[in-house]
This record gives sequence, structure tokens and C-alpha cells, in this order.
Amino acid sequence: MSTKKVTVKTFFNSKKNQEKIAVLTAYDYSTAKYFDDAGVDAILVGDSLGMVVLGYENTQQVTMDEMKIFTGAVARGVRRAMVIADMPFLAAGVSISDAIRNAGDLIRAGAYAVKIEGGDDYTVELVKRLSGVGIPVVAHLGFTPQFINIFGGYNVQLKTSEQTQKTLAQAKKLQEAGAFALVLEMVPEESAKYITENLSIPTIGIGAGRFCDGQVLVSDDILGKYSDFAPKFSKKYADLKSIIFEAGEKYTQEVKSGEFPTEEHIFSLNPEEKEKLNDKAGKVYSRT
Ligand code: KIV
Repeated sequence: MSTKKVTVKTFFNSKKNQEKIAVLTAYDYSTAKYFDDAGVDAILVGDSLGMVVLGYENTQQVTMDEMKIFTGAVARGVRRAMVIADMPFLAAGVSISDAIRNAGDLIRAGAYAVKIEGGDDYTVELVKRLSGVGIPVVAHLGFTPQFINIFGGYNVQLKTSEQTQKTLAQAKKLQEAGAFALVLEMVPEESAKYITENLSIPTIGIGAGRFCDGQVLVSDDILGKYSDFAPKFSKKYADLKSIIFEAGEKYTQEVKSGEFPTEEHIFSLNPEEKEKLNDKAGKVYSRT
């Protein structure tokens, strides 16, 4: 595995050379470090952390302060992979100047790039301005979780040729404005393929089939840690829920039975100090 840092150039070359891009979310130092060592190309500090880490109902409750903390933790664990941080709900949408400041804060926290949901004219302008000040942007179309209440639920998008054409037109504008990659979420495989083949920037799919230039999944889903909801498009590569449960259960039993801690887990006084302590204990005892 190359130790070279992953950059926008790496993304463009991957698309050109038809090499798939592997992206995973991470929210903490250790997980980010292990994924980086495992060869993941990019780590997304997704606002999905609102649900899988903070237990919120959806991503709309996530704040910039939270994003900065988790982005910093991930960035400190990564040496090679690209770190992309999500712009949380309303961090991008209120005004261009606020958005640039917020994106700048995520870059200062350690991100290489930011991801922004949506493709209206305002977002296109914002992508242009962010690229203009030196902040690389990943766009995000199809199902965009921050718009959950507009969509009315977790629904597959781009089910018609007309919607797919419209989204391709938005994607082209975002590409033109400087977006260097596009996340496509929960769309039929055929729609994602059509969009992928008509863009020069790589598409990164999540529930978007086999023909995107890369894939992204939520780490807590692939690790089998988050169990409130299991998306159809995800794949479980581990069963951390059981591992965590069993470790917690065994530890509790051992503490209660006195099986833990044993001699190998303790610190001891040297014999001289131990003797003094025993003397003192004796005195205290004799006084009572
Ligand atoms: O927040 C997130 O994890 C995301 C992915 C679902 C792409 O945006």
C-alpha cells in the first residue's frame, strides 16, 4: 500500500484509471487510525455521528462545535487517508460568509475537504466560493439526510429518468463550480451509473449500486455496532455489538465475583513501605 497522502489528484487519477475509491466514516482517533492503516482512501467525519455516536434522532441536531471535536479526533489518527468533514445542518445554508467561516473551522480542525448536501443555485455558488478560497468540496445528491423532513422519510431518490436528468444537471454545475467528488445516496443503480458516466469527477455511492467510482458506508454499520436500524445497502463485516456486550457482561461478573483484578493488574508497595503501613495499621487498630 502506498504511504502517499490521498489528495484530490488521487481521486481524479482513480476515476481515470478505473480504480475504485474506498471511503468509510469514522468519528474517533483509534477507529480512524485503524482504517488509515487498513488502506481506506478517505475517511468521512459524517454528521451520521449524530445518530450513531450521540444518539440523536437524525442528523439535523448536529452542531458545528460537535463536528469540530470529532474532526479533530479523526484527523489526529490519520497519516495518509483524506479526511472529509460534513458541514452539519445550517452550517452551509444560512449565508455564504457563515459557510466559508464554518468550512474554514473544519479545515483548521484537521479536515482536508468538506462535504455539503444539496445542489440548488445557492449551493453551486457556495462550492465556487469555497474552492476559490482553497477549500476542496465533496457534493452530496440523491437522498440527502439533512432534508429528511422535506423528503418525508428515508426514501430512494431518482426513480425516474426525469429526476435523474435533473440531478445530473445539478451535478454538472457542482462539478463546474469546483466540487472534486460527488456522494450519491440511495438511488437506483441505473441512475447512479448514468450520472457517473456523465461526470468527470468521481462519484462515491452509498446505496447507489455497483457502478459508482467509489463506495462509502457508515463504520458503525459495517462494524455491527449500531443496531437501531440496518440499512439494506450496508454490509456487516464484524459484530462489535456482541463483542462489546460480552466484554461488558464478563467484566461485570468478574468484578462481582472478585475474579478481577488479579495480581497481574495491581501495583505494590516496596516491602519497607508495606511494613510501615502495617505498623500504622496496627497502631490504629490498637487505639480502637
Ligand atoms: O453523514 C454521513 O455519514 C454521510 C454518509 C451517509 C455519506 O453523509
